[in-house]
Amino acid sequence: MSGPSFGVTTLAPEHCEAAAALHAACFSAGWSASGFRSFLSQSDVYGFAAIDLDGVLLGLVLARSAAGEAELLTLATLPEARRRGIAWKLMQAVLERTWQSDAQRLVLEVSARNETAVGLYRRCGFVEIGLRRDYYASAGKQDALVMALRRDQSEVGDFDRRGETGQRPPEA
Ligand SMILES: CC(C)(COP(=O)(O)OP(=O)(O)OC[C@H]1O[C@@H](n2cnc3c(N)ncnc32)[C@H](O)[C@@H]1OP(=O)(O)O)[C@@H](O)C(=O)NCCC(=O)NCCS
Repeated sequence: MSGPSFGVTTLAPEHCEAAAALHAACFSAGWSASGFRSFLSQSDVYGFAAIDLDGVLLGLVLARSAAGEAELLTLATLPEARRRGIAWKLMQAVLERTWQSDAQRLVLEVSARNETAVGLYRRCGFVEIGLRRDYYASAGKQDALVMALRRDQSEVGDFDRRGETGQRPPEA
């Protein structure tokens, strides 16, 4: 696989304008820069940014850990940068950070029609724990899958083998 080099760093207030532009490119109702700033000002919220050699924000992830449970708030990769392992690398970073908190599991909601994201989450080890009917109002009503990854079932250590370029290791 040929892919661009990118680094993963902590999502910080200076990324919020670019984060809003990225979100607008990925979701019909993207979050504003002030929305991202508001999330990042909360002590239980954390996130990571994938940035290329030119400083362009290629992807981001945001999560919250509180009271023993963590929630994935958002995950997105720029359309033109997809399928290069960026979201995988961001998930690695957020899982490592999550397991440093007292969270026993990381939960998320995803449209049941979003096969790409569901495939990614399954590959990370998430399993479906519920279904919320007509949860998303946009583009007609869509069901949401509730997925979870338990701390004791996470293989986050293996993700490190992908290296700094975001390239996957050979399949075991
Ligand atoms: C979902 C999303 C974040 C994936 O980003 P990405 O950087 O392209 O993902 P990666 O390249 O890291 O892919 C990792 C794995 O995810 C799955 N995946 C990614 N793109 C896929 C696709 N088009 N079809 C099927 N599976 C896919 C695969 O398992 C893939 O591993 P593989 O390439 O070895 O098969 C991206 O498509 C996106 O931003 N979508 C719009 C926003 C969104 O739906 N966010 C998630 C819901 S909140």
